[in-house]
Amino acid sequence: MKNKLVIITGASSGIGKACAEKFAQEGANLVLAARSADKLRDVAENIARYGVQVLPVVTDVTREEDCKNLVEKALIKFGKIDVLVNNAGISMRASFSDLDISVLKKLWMLIFGELFIVRAMLFLAFFKIKALLWEFLQ
Ligand SMILES: NC(=O)c1ccc[n+]([C@@H]2O[C@H](COP(=O)([O-])OP(=O)(O)OC[C@H]3O[C@@H](n4cnc5c(N)ncnc54)[C@H](OP(=O)(O)O)[C@@H]3O)[C@@H](O)[C@H]2O)c1
Repeated sequence: MKNKLVIITGASSGIGKACAEKFAQEGANLVLAARSADKLRDVAENIARYGVQVLPVVTDVTREEDCKNLVEKALIKFGKIDVLVNNAGISMRASFSDLDISVLKKLWMLIFGELFIVRAMLFLAFFKIKALLWEFLQ
């Protein structure tokens, strides 16, 4: 993973935070996303000790503008994206009769969020390919 660029959403805690540390141990540079700026900064500071570059980007993945910003910041700083860990999420444990529909709605918005990021990546990749083709044809 040395010098690969990995984006991880939901990197401020749990599985995302653990993945960030593991990727950093393997030598990958990281772009970390979550809503909690303080937690994200702490994770980034902790990971920098592995000698890799880490960019924390405060992101609510349910907001398309935030997702575009995340992908743009990653490409501006690192010029590429090798791996996307679409991990941000919430969970709820309840019996069906106690189901809180508002939590399910949030969950769906998170799934859209994952799509926003992939769409932003494809959109920017399309322009990169177009620019390369244009350069080639000149
Ligand atoms: N742990 C398990 O046993 C288990 C099992 C199956 C599936 N999963 C799934 O695996 C993922 C991670 O689980 P976990 O246990 O590590 O959960 P966790 O500790 O609660 O971490 C969730 C992460 O997602 C971020 N997040 C939540 N909503 C977000 C939003 N709208 N925008 C950006 N980031 C958001 C949180 O950061 P902020 O609050 O700072 O935004 C946090 O960093 C989740 O999708 C979960 O559903 C977990």
